[in-house]
Amino acid sequence: MVFGVDVVQHPETDSLLEEANGQFDFFRADVSDSASVQHMAEYVGAKTEALDILVNCAGIIQPESEYLLEDFDIDGSMKLFNVNALGPLRVTKACIGLLRKGQDKLLVNISSEAGSMTSHADYINRYDYCMSKAALNIQSVILQRYLKPEGIRVLLFNPGWMHTPMGGPEAPVDPAVSARGIADLAESLRTRPDSYMYWNYNGMERPW
Ligand SMILES: NC(=O)c1ccc[n+]([C@@H]2O[C@H](COP(=O)([O-])OP(=O)(O)OC[C@H]3O[C@@H](n4cnc5c(N)ncnc54)[C@H](OP(=O)(O)O)[C@@H]3O)[C@@H](O)[C@H]2O)c1
Repeated sequence: MVFGVDVVQHPETDSLLEEANGQFDFFRADVSDSASVQHMAEYVGAKTEALDILVNCAGIIQPESEYLLEDFDIDGSMKLFNVNALGPLRVTKACIGLLRKGQDKLLVNISSEAGSMTSHADYINRYDYCMSKAALNIQSVILQRYLKPEGIRVLLFNPGWMHTPMGGPEAPVDPAVSARGIADLAESLRTRPDSYMYWNYNGMERPW
């Protein structure tokens, strides 16, 4: 069984549910809201005793992220930080009991090259987005240190510049290709607890 979490109702997810024939379950939750995430975890816990893999993928970017320092609205960044950095930690905290009982014991956090200190993009803006992904990266390092003795593997992936609603139509990477690359890499790294943890979807190590 695969569980998905999203904020709003999409016609596509409704048709996915029909096609999945009971193999996919969908729960609408807001990762920036602790009560909503807790409700989601209770829903999942009522359906299964264990989670093999947890993937934190939800993320946002705001048009205001593009502004340079002088025009950047710092207080307007709170929502983005809440979703991108605290959201994954909320979901992980709520689901860790189920993950501990799973077979694969794999936690995947979807980061970005924007979280890398040596990013090739050379941003001079996007303070909030880059900071939120850097926070997700250090969060994942801390979680890996904490969970390693229990055999839980934590992995971080940069999915590439994908043509999704966030990436826009001119982005070069097909999200399905990115997802396939991440799934294959995660499968091969899962049982190698001492391997590097921050990767590009195409199998290249992502520098911190
Ligand atoms: N696209 C890129 O080029 C790119 C590059 C590097 C990293 N990333 C990262 O890859 C991940 C996926 O990005 P994407 O391109 O697929 O973005 P996207 O097309 O905008 O999709 C983002 C997803 O996150 C969900 N979401 C947003 N806020 C949420 C919340 N508060 N609670 C629960 N779900 C929420 C959205 O749900 P709704 O649609 O219901 O709002 C949507 O399903 C993100 O973490 C992003 O930062 C993307």
